[in-house]
Amino acid sequence: MSSEDSTDAGISSNPFAMFILILFGIILLVYMLSNLIKQALNTCRQRLLSYVMAEYWRKVAEKHKEELDNFFQPLRMKKKEISENLDVLEIGIGDGANFPHYPEGCNVYALDLEDIYEVAVKKNIKKYLHLTLKKFYCSPAEDMSFIKTGTVDVVISTMCLCSVGDVEKVLNEIKRVLRKGGIFIYWEHVEATSSTIKFFQVLLHGSWKCMFGNCHLTRRPWETVESTGFATQKYTKVTVDTLPLISTTLVGSATK
Ligand SMILES: C[S@@+](CC[C@H](N)C(=O)[O-])C[C@H]1O[C@@H](n2cnc3c(N)ncnc32)[C@H](O)[C@@H]1O
Repeated sequence: MSSEDSTDAGISSNPFAMFILILFGIILLVYMLSNLIKQALNTCRQRLLSYVMAEYWRKVAEKHKEELDNFFQPLRMKKKEISENLDVLEIGIGDGANFPHYPEGCNVYALDLEDIYEVAVKKNIKKYLHLTLKKFYCSPAEDMSFIKTGTVDVVISTMCLCSVGDVEKVLNEIKRVLRKGGIFIYWEHVEATSSTIKFFQVLLHGSWKCMFGNCHLTRRPWETVESTGFATQKYTKVTVDTLPLISTTLVGSATK
């Protein structure tokens, strides 16, 4: 008998070795399957989020034209102040749904936690010939150390502060990267003003967060903007005609 035959016979006749081998095979299979399932679930979640956001902005554009126009007013005003191109950073940019509202002459710095949006942003911005995409950063907005202090004219955040891990860190970073006199504009769903809706926000918070990428239903970002120490802050609360859970919306701007 060759040494190979004797090894084969050794494993098949040793129940413990067979058991370890089968167990290892099962663990490997479960690991591979769970990774595939995780990836598939993540893709589904992102597609669902993109669909919900597209529907949301379609409704806002249709029913809240005036509020949307007021929201982008500080961006347009800032552009009028500056003769060169405006340096605009949008955090949590997603697909780039706000490009239609940027004025002519903006250098766009896009940032999102998820790398899948890089392709979408690069494709989408081609439709807006008056805009130049300078850079897409795939990073959490909590750490923007790759952007120099005091180099950005306007930071935009729409429906993003609800999902970030640490609102305070993000706002400190926004304030740091802005030039003196620079503006932060934000459109964010927040804690409901109606106590009935607030009750459901609290009730559904956990499952909502899992389904929509860490989206918190009951945040109060106006308080954090205040404590970050911007020179001025102006905001209003608008009730957007959408799902009641995300209808109370904070629309505002803060100046460094
Ligand atoms: C609800 S979507 C909004 C997308 C886009 N701003 C819009 O209004 O259509 C939230 C976006 O924030 C991004 N995001 C979540 N946490 C983030 C973080 N910590 N830093 C940067 N982006 C983040 C998500 O990947 C997602 O693209």
